[in-house]
Amino acid sequence: MTAKELRQKYLDFFKEKEHAIIPSAPLVPENDPTVLFTTAGMHPLVPFLMGEKHPKGKRLANVQKCVRTVDIDAVGDNRHLTFFEMLGNWSLGDYFKREAIEWSFEFLVGEKWLGLDPRRLYVTVFEGDEDAVRDEESIRIWQEQFAKVDIKAEPVGEEKIVSYEKRIIPLGKDDNWWGPAGETGPCGPCTEMFYDVSPELGEVNDTFENLVKNFRLMEIWNDVFMEFNKKADGTFEKMAQQNVDTGMGLERTLVVMSGKDNVFDTEFFQPIIRKIEEICGKKYDDENSKIPMRIIADHLKAATFMIADGALPSNVERGYVLRRLIRRAVRQGKVLGIEDNFASKIAEAVVDMYKDIYPELEKEKDKIIEELDKEEVKFRQTLEKGLKKIKEIIAESRSAEKISGEKAFYLFSTYGFPLELTKEIASEHNMAVDEDLYREQFKKHQELSRTVSAGMFKGGLADAGEKAAQLHTATHLLLAALREILGDHVIQKGSNINNERLRLDFSHDKKMTLEEKAKAEELVNEAISKNIEVKCEEMTLENAQKAGALGVFGEKYGDKVKVYSIYDFSKEICGGPHAARTGELGKFKIKKEEASSAGVRRIKAVLE
Ligand code: ALA
Repeated sequence: MTAKELRQKYLDFFKEKEHAIIPSAPLVPENDPTVLFTTAGMHPLVPFLMGEKHPKGKRLANVQKCVRTVDIDAVGDNRHLTFFEMLGNWSLGDYFKREAIEWSFEFLVGEKWLGLDPRRLYVTVFEGDEDAVRDEESIRIWQEQFAKVDIKAEPVGEEKIVSYEKRIIPLGKDDNWWGPAGETGPCGPCTEMFYDVSPELGEVNDTFENLVKNFRLMEIWNDVFMEFNKKADGTFEKMAQQNVDTGMGLERTLVVMSGKDNVFDTEFFQPIIRKIEEICGKKYDDENSKIPMRIIADHLKAATFMIADGALPSNVERGYVLRRLIRRAVRQGKVLGIEDNFASKIAEAVVDMYKDIYPELEKEKDKIIEELDKEEVKFRQTLEKGLKKIKEIIAESRSAEKISGEKAFYLFSTYGFPLELTKEIASEHNMAVDEDLYREQFKKHQELSRTVSAGMFKGGLADAGEKAAQLHTATHLLLAALREILGDHVIQKGSNINNERLRLDFSHDKKMTLEEKAKAEELVNEAISKNIEVKCEEMTLENAQKAGALGVFGEKYGDKVKVYSIYDFSKEICGGPHAARTGELGKFKIKKEEASSAGVRRIKAVLE
């Protein structure tokens, strides 16, 4: 079966069950500030799961483009992907557990549909806790399905061993409770379907955990019974309607359909891997090539789709996730000996593979190529310098057998090497990184920001604290620059940082001229280019004021305050967090200068 046939079969099946087929939403969510990327088909449907009427009715199905970065470190194994397609069907207050499970079973094993072997199918259900009861109903419905094909299916016993007769596995919230990546919203118990991809190993007889870890069982489909809303205080309330939200991994399902045991051997990756082989002259089957090639194929495919949907590499938010993916791919390219730009060549292969299904790829092809080229050039320059430095560090840290937290942090603050990259390189030299000390170091300078909404980065590569801290430091630099250019009457009237930009309100009663704005940018960028340390000292409020530190008018301070200073350019009383050095900030740019209220102007600015 081809991917195209599989997509079509799924949609045909649910059309037969009276579902309306809806298009894939873009990867960059349109109205959902709680996530960076669409991570499941249910994202764009949240309002309808909460009770709003959907124009297409109560039964929907689609194929949704998804990006997930929680498992980024697992990419390279047989099934974890950053970009994937999800086949989904939904009941918006219509059918519930019975139909959802019956249809899942019918689609998977029905001769007319996928025709998979029910003896190789294993299912998990919610085991129950203080928030919701054990899902006996799903257990019963599953037993009825298996009974149709003469399989006696029981839940695993005390010893938790999965076997031919005991193929129903009750698990807790970590495994069998699904909600969106944000902290709040619709959620509920779920039942997941796993397929035995190595029946030649004999009868299944092990714990579920081992069977999954050893890649014997591959998860292919998840049916979520969404009847709860998780509230901000962590409690669950029953929603007015009972929904079903399902997600079937297209790539993984094709793996089991094709009798293979990993996603990279399918048509979803083979053309990309051939391209990489052609570029580096090495073979995928070589021991040392396989994992780098898998990572490159995965990351650059994801990057291609992300750019097509409007994401651009940057230091903040989704742009940062994109940047990290591209950079990681380039680094892996280096492992394969690729020294020239190659990311856009891979992107071309991806566009060719998918353009019939996702025409936006062809439409945005020029932009995709341009952005990848630009980012790769930029990164190769930093990478050279950073790699030289890390080699020195590795050599001098040999006897300690690990890179100290301080040095790892230096690589981060000066060369933009994320901890993950340093760890990766260190492990290639059989060395570890003192992560605890790195984190301590990191915290010392940049406590995790509370200004960035909590759920935003869950499931993302990006570290909220890192970016918020950079924007925060940029705010201090901007205020200092404005005082220098416009005068000492400029004081801060308000500040707000989100994941894209900073916003500073300040006292000034005239529109700034073009020259003044350009000058402010110049001063801030000058301070950035000097890579000055951001110093933090604790002192009494009185001493802080004596030292000339600026405070925010109307703000209540405790007896002891923190004073952040950037050389003699800026000195402010502030709770932090901040970047360790100004060099981390990237390029500062004013996006807007406008009136906020009488005598108060507002600047929105970004770090690129
Ligand atoms: N939204 C559910 C998932 O992603 C179906 O697993």
